Amino acid sequence: MEGLERAGYKDATILEIGSGVGHLHQTLLERGASSAVGVDLASKMIEEARHWAEERRLAERTDYFEGDFMDISESLPDAEVTVLDKVVCCYPDADGLIHSSLSKTKRVYALTYPRNRWYVHVMMGFAALAMKILRSDFRPYVHAPERIENWITADGFDKSYQNHNLLWLTQVYVKTSI
Ligand SMILES: C[S@@+](CC[C@H](N)C(=O)[O-])C[C@H]1O[C@@H](n2cnc3c(N)ncnc32)[C@H](O)[C@@H]1O
Repeated sequence: MEGLERAGYKDATILEIGSGVGHLHQTLLERGASSAVGVDLASKMIEEARHWAEERRLAERTDYFEGDFMDISESLPDAEVTVLDKVVCCYPDADGLIHSSLSKTKRVYALTYPRNRWYVHVMMGFAALAMKILRSDFRPYVHAPERIENWITADGFDKSYQNHNLLWLTQVYVKTSI
């Protein structure tokens, strides 16, 4: 939220990829964004996000799509602000996910993903093992932040904000070229 406040999102259209139960884009709507599209692979997440949009009286300003963003991106509208909050770490093809989502972004691109630290790799390794034991198809990934930054800046965006905690790195980029 801090990085998005600085970059600006008033009256903006939002695209949240891997939107989960919708808390982030619904908060942006309550604080002045104009409309939001949420996309998630999981039907339960979409169901819950729709429920919360109703609860928060945001249903008319939200639209939800169930599916893999990479499969349905062409049918989605462009947005002024695109958000991927803890999503790049769920997807093996970070290059594809980032480039397709950048192509949908008119001005602000915000993402949170795991830091490239040894203990993060250990934690993700344990998480992957637990998922395998539980027979889940889901696997977590730690993609190199330097490569992610290079892809985004090479696409005409400048980094306007960065913060981190022990596990997560948050970055906000603003488009400099059209
Ligand atoms: C760790 S959760 C984060 C959810 C939410 N952004 C949050 O921070 O609460 C990751 C979400 O991304 C979704 N996801 C992962 N890869 C996706 C993809 N390629 N297209 C759409 N959704 C995706 C998952 O289904 C999951 O709900």
